[in-house]
Amino acid sequence: MKFRLDKILSDNGLGSRKDIKRLLRERVVTVNGRVCDDPGTQIDPDADALTLRGEPLALMTSVYLMLNKPAGTVTSTADPEHRTVMDLLDEPYSAMDLFPIGRLDYDTEGLLVITNDGPLTHWLTSPRTGVDKTYYARLRDAVNDAESIRYAAAFAAGITFKDGFQCLPARLTRVGAEENGFFVTIQEGKYHQVKKMFKVVGNEVSYLRRTAMGSLSLDENLVPGDYRPLTPAEIAELRATSP
Ligand code: URA
Repeated sequence: MKFRLDKILSDNGLGSRKDIKRLLRERVVTVNGRVCDDPGTQIDPDADALTLRGEPLALMTSVYLMLNKPAGTVTSTADPEHRTVMDLLDEPYSAMDLFPIGRLDYDTEGLLVITNDGPLTHWLTSPRTGVDKTYYARLRDAVNDAESIRYAAAFAAGITFKDGFQCLPARLTRVGAEENGFFVTIQEGKYHQVKKMFKVVGNEVSYLRRTAMGSLSLDENLVPGDYRPLTPAEIAELRATSP
């Protein structure tokens, strides 16, 4: 696959597209042994050899990170007031043009994939795709067995919000012996969806963590705020949920 030289250098954290144009004008970048100053040059990262100021440049084409989002962060690339999930990334990722796949609330923790793969993001967040998202929810009020069965039936039938929106059927299972801990799996990603679903059955979410998206599960070794690149197998699994 080929990419524009300015885009691939920018995606690799070497600066904005404007910075890259300036860099190329300095004639410090070579492609296959020749100085290249044309930002529109088509580059195949698997076949072309690049150097910057004489040093070989190893180019990454796509980046996929698994972040355990901590509470108190906004799922956005920029925010005037609050810390964003992007502020948690170190170099080289912090300088890359990355974005989160989907959104978690300010107070929600858990699995968030951060990438520069636009088509995959579009597919996984499209309402038509219906990728499963699983959350662990701790509820304000303890739930007895009869109530738990009532909740599960209501979730399976499709919860209707006050505004008339009807959710797709969702799976609810109690977490072991916990009286107020549940796993819930939904296919949509409406604003505050899980919190609103539990409100409809008469309870309230006091803690929410996303534990899985499609076949990808949150790595339990990542404490909130930590991240790591997805493994090739995880990337393949994530891609397998898309066409
Ligand atoms: N549902 C919610 O209510 N909040 C989230 O962050 C994700 C799903």
